[in-house]
Amino acid sequence: MIHPGFSEPRTKEEWRAYLAAIAHPPRMPAMPAWAAYQAMDDAEREIFNEARDDYHSAFIILRTPPMDRIHAQITKKLKLNKGAPAGARPGIVIDGPPTVGKSTLVKTFAADYEMGLRRKYPERFDPVGPDYIPVVYISVPAGATPKMLSAAIAEYMNLELPRAGATSTEITTLVLKALRKCGTQLFIIDDIHFLDVSVKDGRLANDHLKNLANFCAATFVYTGVEVLKSGLFLEGRSPIGSLPAHTSDGHTERATQTSGRFTLFQLDRFKIDTLEAAREWALVIKSMEEELGLFKHKPGSLDWEYLHDRTGGSINSLSILIREAALDAVATGSERITKKIMNQIVLPRASEESYRNKRKRRRNPPPTQTAEGEAEAI
Ligand SMILES: Nc1ncnc2c1ncn2[C@@H]1O[C@H](COP(=O)(O)OP(=O)(O)O)[C@@H](O)[C@H]1O
Ligand SMILES: [Mg+2]
Repeated sequence: MIHPGFSEPRTKEEWRAYLAAIAHPPRMPAMPAWAAYQAMDDAEREIFNEARDDYHSAFIILRTPPMDRIHAQITKKLKLNKGAPAGARPGIVIDGPPTVGKSTLVKTFAADYEMGLRRKYPERFDPVGPDYIPVVYISVPAGATPKMLSAAIAEYMNLELPRAGATSTEITTLVLKALRKCGTQLFIIDDIHFLDVSVKDGRLANDHLKNLANFCAATFVYTGVEVLKSGLFLEGRSPIGSLPAHTSDGHTERATQTSGRFTLFQLDRFKIDTLEAAREWALVIKSMEEELGLFKHKPGSLDWEYLHDRTGGSINSLSILIREAALDAVATGSERITKKIMNQIVLPRASEESYRNKRKRRRNPPPTQTAEGEAEAI
């Protein structure tokens, strides 16, 4: 478990600060015996509870089963790519709806990876030697053009642009040259759906990505929302191509270079529709409960079905709900998370909406199958 640190590092210095934050995760304040807690005077208790609030506010990143599975796949690709030349290296795309933990997953992987390199090869990280940047993490700004992507990489690597108003080609050349020198092995492009693929049918953006991969001997990992439908994987409305696919409106589309080289993994909200899935969800909840600094909360005591209803299986909403409930459990002195506490917490809009709909469906259940059949027959 690690500290989330700040969200999206934009420079290698910020990335290194993120690594440092991970090396020093927030610690749960030492929990005294219940009697000792009760014997505290007001001032002492206030300080102790404030420390617990800070801890609950920071909380931790859980190694969830889906995260472990995708991490294992990225590890395999990195191993596979070790001896492969640049350009031909297969990459990974992690696709999923917003706030399911895609950025957290890739950053955690990249942090583990770089920490491993730092342990194994400390000499490579010698501050007086050439700058070694094994991990590049780029969070794509909304509506980014290929030029903006190159500029973001230049900013991450702390490169000085040749001149104000430099062209896309100039910035890209600069970036590619630097990438060759600094030994980048893992190149993460987070939120790739923000890359504007509408520019000249998306070809420009796709060519740009291909160019990066051709010149940089790193393994590329992209994350995004609905990337399969984006121009990254299909070049829209092109009449020619080796891998034609037909869209519902009859236009021919061509699979892009990206689709040929990247393996797609899906990261979704947690589901509880099978026993195995429900177990996984319950396990995630239990591991969150285990991190709570509360006197009377028993891990495993929370109702996983209720929590799924409330959060729609979103780890983001679950984390908010449990952390906010922990603050309330300290403030009210209940020292355990209860349904009453959780019922009073308002979650992000999407979760609240899905909860309302679920409750509505429960109050007015759809007709049973036979009843439905009969209804249709009428
Ligand atoms: N493994 C995790 N453990 C705990 N909380 C998590 C985890 N993954 C995501 N979260 C929570 O969900 C929030 C959104 O995650 P994020 O990675 O930004 O999602 P995405 O990139 O898919 O939009 C995070 O800020 C964090 O609070
Ligand atoms: Mg993200």
